[in-house]
Amino acid sequence: MKTIVHVIGARPNYMKIAPLMEALRAGSPFRQVLVNTGQHYDDLMARAFVRDLALPTPDHDLGVGSASHAVQTAKVMIEFERVCEAERPDLVVVVGDVNSTLAASLVAAKLLIPVAHVEAGLRSRDRSMPEEINRIVTDRLSDLLLTPSRDGSDNLRAEGVPEEKIHLVGNIMIDSLMRHLPLAKLDRVRDRMSIDEGRYAVLTLHRPSNVDNLDAFRRILTAIQTIAESMPVIFPVHPRTRQRMGDFGLDGALGNVTLTDPLGYIDFLSLTSHARLILTDSGGLQEESTALGIPCLTLRENTERPITVTHGTNQIVGTDTSAILAGFRRAMTPAGPVPRPDLWDGHTAERITRVLCQFLAN
Ligand code: UD1
Repeated sequence: MKTIVHVIGARPNYMKIAPLMEALRAGSPFRQVLVNTGQHYDDLMARAFVRDLALPTPDHDLGVGSASHAVQTAKVMIEFERVCEAERPDLVVVVGDVNSTLAASLVAAKLLIPVAHVEAGLRSRDRSMPEEINRIVTDRLSDLLLTPSRDGSDNLRAEGVPEEKIHLVGNIMIDSLMRHLPLAKLDRVRDRMSIDEGRYAVLTLHRPSNVDNLDAFRRILTAIQTIAESMPVIFPVHPRTRQRMGDFGLDGALGNVTLTDPLGYIDFLSLTSHARLILTDSGGLQEESTALGIPCLTLRENTERPITVTHGTNQIVGTDTSAILAGFRRAMTPAGPVPRPDLWDGHTAERITRVLCQFLAN
């Protein structure tokens, strides 16, 4: 029996692997092995997601934890090489653009194990983002490039990737979103925060370019204070951001904003799916906002997900206070319904299963 090894490590990975493992269980003869690198390890950043998404217990926990990019990548590589030697996979599946994605791809490629990259082809063209480097290198090393949208396939073609490696399959995160939305709609997280449906904003921030930079962080928080005068703002705070707020003495800078710990998948989806507005520097949340039809202001200068602007609800507003507030005013103007991008339909995992079956049959 052929073996597929799936790699998860950080918060944005779990909702991409869960639907794929389920579809492969139902529609393929392969043995599946789940490896958790442990890049994220707090209950609220990792285990809460594994539980909410009903992922199987990982077969291997590498326990790498936080460190500098080089150390974290190297630790995953050392441990993942051992896993590959023990499991002898016929294919390694990696998702997204975190350090674990890059590390596992490098190990597999050097052991001549084929790599499938889910969410291939996205480009911000900003190499100051560590994720952009992870995306470029992972795509270079992958044998199957599974893209979420046409722009991803076009980027790969422009980089000279052979056509037979590129498969436009759609956005697998939307599989998880559509599967869990009915449960999230019933969730009562809003009661705990005393907010009304459709009348509040959700904020997330964790990019080093925003939260490790005092000026950018201050400019964003100034805009958020003003927005919070018009509607409640709920801010689940990432551990990196919590740490920086303490370092910079910004703990008191958001008097009228509700700060919470990071939320699990269902609570967070419940919060975002009933929101009036989302403000974020996350990649995945730009996509989820578009799928939910909720206006999103992206607090970055660029995006690797331009389809959320051209075919969605996203505006790239940067980190300038007045630009964020101008975006806020535009977002408050009622707009018609927005169609979802092609193939963001909840069936991406099945399409990937067909591609993997065909690949491993050869
Ligand atoms: C990582 C990913 C980023 C992704 C984000 C989602 C890379 C390069 N970055 O960034 O692409 O969008 O995850 O959250 O792979 N920490 C904890 N508990 C945890 C995890 C982290 O306290 O479970 C703290 C540690 O102090 C750590 C810091 O947060 O140093 C940053 O974590 P790290 O995994 O290095 O990067 P993220 O900012 O989470």
